[in-house]
Amino acid sequence: MIQTAHFKIDPRLAMLLGETYRSTEHALKELVDNAWDADADHVWISLPDAMTTDPIVIKDDGCGMDENEVRKEYLMVARDRRSGRGDRTARKNRLVKGRKGIGKFAGLMAADIMQLETMANGIITYLTIPRQELLKANTDLEQFELLITTLECGLGEHGTVITLSDLNQSFSFPTAERLKELLILEYGRQTDFKIHVNGDLLGMEDIPGDIFNHEADMPGAGPVRFRFKIVDKKQKLKNAGIVVRVGGKIVGKPGYFGLDDEEDIPHKILKQVFGEIEADGLADDTTADWGAFVENSKAFQVMAQWAQQQLRQEVLRKYKREVNLAKARLKKEINQRIAKLPEYRRAYAEQTMERIMLRCYDQSEERMKPIMSVVLDALEGIPDRI
Ligand SMILES: Nc1ncnc2c1ncn2[C@@H]1O[C@H](COP(=O)(O)OP(=O)(O)OP(=O)(O)O)[C@@H](O)[C@H]1O
Ligand SMILES: [Mg+2]
Repeated sequence: MIQTAHFKIDPRLAMLLGETYRSTEHALKELVDNAWDADADHVWISLPDAMTTDPIVIKDDGCGMDENEVRKEYLMVARDRRSGRGDRTARKNRLVKGRKGIGKFAGLMAADIMQLETMANGIITYLTIPRQELLKANTDLEQFELLITTLECGLGEHGTVITLSDLNQSFSFPTAERLKELLILEYGRQTDFKIHVNGDLLGMEDIPGDIFNHEADMPGAGPVRFRFKIVDKKQKLKNAGIVVRVGGKIVGKPGYFGLDDEEDIPHKILKQVFGEIEADGLADDTTADWGAFVENSKAFQVMAQWAQQQLRQEVLRKYKREVNLAKARLKKEINQRIAKLPEYRRAYAEQTMERIMLRCYDQSEERMKPIMSVVLDALEGIPDRI
């Protein structure tokens, strides 16, 4: 006899899907990604003070959802929103981040109660998802009754507020600093998506690492302000590079002013650079669509050359410091061998070793050792001039 069977879904699935985040801060980023997808201009996150029972609140001014959308889109598990609505957002044409249809459960990792309050099309909809009750429920996830309430609101009002209360005590308290670091690496370049954490607008200062500031008055371009950071190797930067901002608008894509074509600069370290140049005086040197600078603009070329120099200087300095730190042991051995060379050959040997070290920035000490050794053998083997 042939019959049909059906999957059953334990409500615990909602928790399992929310448990894959490394930290509460990572889980919160998921909710910020939802605000991005909702075409929000702003998202405000407020984190509770330590030792209080205050909730975490994530508020955005995006498109929001009406009751129907909450039921059909928000509560639909594992739906790829791009299949129905494409991979660009409707209003701002942003590349959509949501793809798995499970990000909403991130909130349940951090808290026992997740409340959604969302406004669109003249309706404000409230929905509560209680973690403990879901866990205890002896029913199918689809059958679990969630409380949903609606009220009328102004037709033009839109946006969403997620409130996470009864925070999970077994996780360390989310800190504004860590959350900012995480968000700035992803969203640091966006001019139309402003993130506020505990009232502070996220900016370049929130990127971990030393900040470099250079200012100059350029012929043709006027006053130019260059700020950049070189982040730690461990940090993964999205959109690394330097952008040029003219009148607040970013022109073209992040780049390195030709430094990426230079042989002595390893690409890997350039991926750790994040910064911007403000050059309002270049307004007449951009292409009509602001997609690039006019190639033969003298003012731009002068500025680019100056920027390259500043960048080169700091990058090399940082890079040498990193290499020296990482390869300290190897360096000691090399120095011992160099010390035994005839004096007139030492400076050349030191320079050669330094060049090799910098070139082999990405290599492990074990890999570098034989290369260094062969070169030193050669240097030691050159017969002395008479
Ligand atoms: N802040 C929000 N504003 C408006 N709509 C939202 C918001 N958060 C979620 N939604 C809607 O609910 C849907 C489900 O969100 P969820 O985060 O669970 O999945 P997703 O974003 O589609 O994919 P992913 O799992 O990759 O995040 C979204 O696709 C979106 O339609
Ligand atoms: Mg999502």
